[in-house]
Amino acid sequence: MALTNLDPILSLSKRRGFVFQSSEIYGGLNGCWDYGPLGVELLRNVKEAWWKAMTFRDDIEGIDASILMHPRVWDASGHTAQFSDPMIDNKTSKSRHRADNLIEDFIDRLRKKGKNNDADRIAVRLSAVEELSDYHAIIMEEQIPDPVSGTTDWTEVRNFNLMFKTFLGPVADDSAAIYLRPETAQGIFVNFKNVMDSARQKPPFGIAQIGKSFRNEINTKNFLFRTREFEQMEMQFFIKPGSETEWFEYWREQRWQWFLSLGMKSDSLRRKPHEKLAHYAAAAEDIEYLFPFGWGEIEGIHSRTDFDLGKHQEFSGKKLEYVDTVTGERYTPYVIETAVGASRSFMAFLCNAFDEEETSGEDGKTDKRTVLRFHPYLAPLKVAVFPLVNKDGMPEKATALYNDLQKNFKATYDTSGAVGRRYRRQDEIGTPFCVTIDGQTLTDDTVTIRERDTMQQVRLPISNVKPYLLEKLAL
Ligand code: GAP
Repeated sequence: MALTNLDPILSLSKRRGFVFQSSEIYGGLNGCWDYGPLGVELLRNVKEAWWKAMTFRDDIEGIDASILMHPRVWDASGHTAQFSDPMIDNKTSKSRHRADNLIEDFIDRLRKKGKNNDADRIAVRLSAVEELSDYHAIIMEEQIPDPVSGTTDWTEVRNFNLMFKTFLGPVADDSAAIYLRPETAQGIFVNFKNVMDSARQKPPFGIAQIGKSFRNEINTKNFLFRTREFEQMEMQFFIKPGSETEWFEYWREQRWQWFLSLGMKSDSLRRKPHEKLAHYAAAAEDIEYLFPFGWGEIEGIHSRTDFDLGKHQEFSGKKLEYVDTVTGERYTPYVIETAVGASRSFMAFLCNAFDEEETSGEDGKTDKRTVLRFHPYLAPLKVAVFPLVNKDGMPEKATALYNDLQKNFKATYDTSGAVGRRYRRQDEIGTPFCVTIDGQTLTDDTVTIRERDTMQQVRLPISNVKPYLLEKLAL
C-alpha cells in the first residue's frame, strides 16, 4: 500500500515510540526530534549497517571528529562565505521563507489546480536563477502570495547563512565565534594526513564518519526530512588524480546496492544527476527516495577533484599530499564523497517498510493489519517471546528462552491478550519473528516461530531457535 501522506507514519512514530517532538511538553522545538525506544534501535541499526558496509574492508578507516572545529576550517571550505539559502520576509505576517521553496510550493499548487502551463513556465524561470534578485523578480511578477497573510507584501531576497554560531570560552565576542559543524565531511578532510600516516594507508583509500550536523534551516519540513539537527554518514575516498571516473562509477553503484540490500523497493529509488555542477566538481549524483510528499534526496555521491584538500592546504599552510617514498611521486589526492543522512534514510526506511493489508484474523474474519516490513537487520526488535497462556509452566519456559535470546538479540516478552493480538502488536513495529511456547512445548520441547511477512509458522526444537534466528538475521 503506497502512502499518500505522512500522517500514518507520524501517528505510528509517536504511538509506538519511534520519534517524539523535541521538548514536547514545552510545545516542541521546531526542526528538532527525539528518537524513542524503538526509534533509537532502528537508527542504530541503519548506522551499523552503513558502518559495516563502509568500514569492514581494508581500504576504509573510521574516525569520530569533534563537532566544534577551528573557525578557519569553514573559511577554507567556503561555508562562511557561501553556505546560505535565499531568504524572504513577508512584511504583513512577518513570516520568513526560503525564496526557492516559496516558488516551488507555488508551482506545486498550480499543478494541483491543473495549471500546468503556468507551472512549467515558472519552473523554467526558477531553474535559470543566477542571482538573489532573480528570485525576487519571479515572486513579484508571478504575484506569489504569502501562505500566511495572502499578501504579496515582500521584502528583498537576502542570503541567510545556515551555520549555527556559538562562542568558545567565556567571552562572547566575535574573536571567540565558532560554529556547530554543518557537515561531517570537514572533520575527515582535516584529518586526511593523520589517518593516512597512522593507519599506513595510501590512495585509493577512504575515511568514514557518522555524526551529528547542524543547519539553521529557514524552513524545516516533512518530519525528519529537513531538520536543524540531524546525523550524517559520510565517506571521503582519496584517489590518484585521473582515476576519478572509475571510482565515481564504483561508488555510485555501491551506494545504490546498499539501499537495495536493505530492502528498499527499487521503484521507490531513482538516480538524479546534478544539472549544475559546482565549478570544482567533476560529477555529482543524488539518490532520491519517493517519499509520500514526492521525490527527495537521501544521498549525494560527488566527485570533488582536489578542491577540499587544496583549500585546506592553502588556508592551513600544511601539505596535504600523498608522497610515494620509493618513486618520489607526489600529488594532492582527488576525492569521491558519499554523503547520506542517517536520519533522512531512517525516515525513508520507515516509509518503505510501512504497509497496511487485509488479512484473515485468527477467528477467520477479515482483519486489517499494519505491518512494518523492515529488513530483519534493521528491525528495532528482532524477536518476541510469548507463553500461550500464563500458567501450566509455560511462563517459566518462555522466560528462560527470552533471557537466553536477549544475550544475542534485542528481544521482547509479552503475555497480555490473545496471541493474535500479540502478533499484531509486533507486526506494527516490524518485529520479524515471534516465538510461542505452548502445551506441546511442555511435552517435547518444541516451539513455533512465526514469520512477520508471510505469517507462516514453523515448529522447531527450543535448542534450534537461536541458530535459526542467527541465520535469518545476518546481514
Ligand atoms: N558533505 C556533503 C554534504 O553534506 P549534503 O547534500 O548537504 O552534502 C548530505 O548532505 C545528506 O545529508 C543529504 O543527502 C541528506 O540525506 C542529509 N541532510 C542534509 N541536510 C539535512 C537536513 N537539514 N535534515 C536532515 N538531513 C539532511
